[in-house]
Amino acid sequence: MTFRRTALAEQMATQLLRPSFLDTSLRSGLFLSGQRRVGKTTFLATDLIPALEALGAIVVYVDLWSQPQANPADLVHEAIRKTLKELQTPGSGILKRLQQVASVEAGAAGFKFGFKLADVGKDDGTSLARAFEALIDQAKTNVVLIIDEVQHALGSADGDHLLHALKAARDAINTRPGTPGYFLFIGTGSHRARVQELTLKGNQAFNGAVTNEFPVLGRDFIDYVLEQVRPQLGAMLPSADVTESAFRSMGSRPEELMKALNVLRSLHADALPDEHLPTIAQSLGAAAADVELQKVEAMGPLAEAVFSRICSIGGDVKGVFTGEALKAYAAQIGRDVTAQEVQSIIGMLTSANLLMRVKHGHYGVTDPFVEKAWMNRLQADQLLRAGPAGDPPRLYNQPQGR
Ligand SMILES: Nc1ncnc2c1ncn2[C@@H]1O[C@H](COP(=O)(O)OP(=O)(O)OP(=O)(O)O)[C@@H](O)[C@H]1O
Ligand SMILES: [Mg+2]
Repeated sequence: MTFRRTALAEQMATQLLRPSFLDTSLRSGLFLSGQRRVGKTTFLATDLIPALEALGAIVVYVDLWSQPQANPADLVHEAIRKTLKELQTPGSGILKRLQQVASVEAGAAGFKFGFKLADVGKDDGTSLARAFEALIDQAKTNVVLIIDEVQHALGSADGDHLLHALKAARDAINTRPGTPGYFLFIGTGSHRARVQELTLKGNQAFNGAVTNEFPVLGRDFIDYVLEQVRPQLGAMLPSADVTESAFRSMGSRPEELMKALNVLRSLHADALPDEHLPTIAQSLGAAAADVELQKVEAMGPLAEAVFSRICSIGGDVKGVFTGEALKAYAAQIGRDVTAQEVQSIIGMLTSANLLMRVKHGHYGVTDPFVEKAWMNRLQADQLLRAGPAGDPPRLYNQPQGR
């Protein structure tokens, strides 16, 4: 039972495809960043893509997380080829839809491209710019390429190449006077800083594009969910206000909300739902973060010390390798620490997706929820370790400035 976000999707689709003067920068690309499990993919699939198509656009969608081992460029090329192939096929669903919404007549018998589909994106084959240009000229409509989890294209030569090819396509098509359609690019990602990196850094392909926060589900979703669960929960139905704030406290993640409501249902009949829900939400949130925190702990005391430092300084941390940092780690774990060791620990934390590189030499915690949970744990530890006699905390430094 997916909650539809039709109005939001229509508004976004209109901004993209029929931009007002102020929105034309969206033609340089739109990036949506949102935390994990907040419904990004669901929104694209069930709301945004249909809304874009209803306005006559051809949408090519690819999820770079669908096959984490695959080369991102291959996945994108494959998705483009698949769409072109369908357009070549008389009577295909996509052609029928185009005829309905965009009064495309030329396409009735299937599109004809002056290149082999298998060559699209190949080094000495047809460039993406050429392929999209041919498509737009025949379809006479906008083409939207959506790359879900686009940050996976960062950090590899193939990915860089792909992003530059997309930028070239965008620049070639969108600057043509009287182009019959535009090439639009939407990327989503779970790593806010990495997604931003795509649009900010001068040498990145999408310099100048717009980055927005993914709009998380809100009160209308809460009202919808409560309506759905009313029959099962009966007297255990919480109020919308309490549910909404519990939902937020769990990172606006639908799955967590469902778990919390299930716990409510299992409580004894005279429990008070509005009193219990916040506690349930808190412990579920903690349990989810726990899984991640245990990964840090499993890497040993130095990993804990480094992770703590990055958490406590917050966001954009540079000084993880400084002499001062090394001394602090040494004091915490009770032995000398080399910069090399720290480097390898950071490598482990990064490949476990707990940390991410924000820019050269700067690291941040990937998931703000995990960061917050870690900070809570540090504080709790300090209270415990301080003990009745007021012993100084042994393991961790006092978190600073947060
Ligand atoms: N509008 C919605 N109504 C009901 N459930 C939803 C809605 N959007 C998302 N969900 C549920 O939330 C969960 C996460 O959704 P989804 O996979 O779309 O999120 P995501 O942000 O793309 O996650 P990931 O970070 O894993 O890519 C899924 O179980 C999905 O069914
Ligand atoms: Mg997703």
